[in-house]
Amino acid sequence: MKKLVFATNNKHKINEVAPLIQDHFQLLSLADIHCFDEIEEPHNTLLENAFEKARYIYTKYQVNCFADDTGLEIDALDGQPGVYSARYAGEQCSFEDNVRKVLLEMQGKKVRTARFKTVIALIIDGNEFSFEGKIEGEIIDETIGKDGFGYDPIFRPIGYHQTFAEMPLEEKNKISHRALASKQLIQFLSQI
Ligand code: IMP
Repeated sequence: MKKLVFATNNKHKINEVAPLIQDHFQLLSLADIHCFDEIEEPHNTLLENAFEKARYIYTKYQVNCFADDTGLEIDALDGQPGVYSARYAGEQCSFEDNVRKVLLEMQGKKVRTARFKTVIALIIDGNEFSFEGKIEGEIIDETIGKDGFGYDPIFRPIGYHQTFAEMPLEEKNKISHRALASKQLIQFLSQI
């Protein structure tokens, strides 16, 4: 089976994408190729950051690979944290710090609509492609649920009663931003 590197060390992301892709490719993480570098995300768009990571890995290791970059856009916060979702509460912050900051800034806000966006940047034999997935939802006013990661405990997709952190992974994987982008990636890969 052909190998494809997912340029991330985020185990949650690997666990989400692996079941979607495993029939088509053997998915390797950065740890699997012994890459422990901290790859920069210096740009102000998800697309540029995703390509920054994918190009870094392709250039250094000469392996077919893809990288993703995800942002949570909250309408009442003018689209923040957006591309800065990972470091919203500061450089070394935890998922919990970021969630606390969002809950604080959303206190008293009536409009609570938000969306997750994932961009996947793929490099195959030196050729570059990109895919995007998006899910609309709302920011609740407390954390609910223990599963998932990042902002999952405060994000409830439109039409659902559970936050992403309450959903079993198979449920999140049917509708999430990353799942939608990954499905496009897989469809593309199965055609080439
Ligand atoms: P990244 O730069 O793609 O790793 O994503 C930026 C940040 O967005 C992460 O550090 C998480 O806080 C958050 N994030 C990414 N994907 C998800 C998700 O599926 N659920 C909740 N938060 C996420």
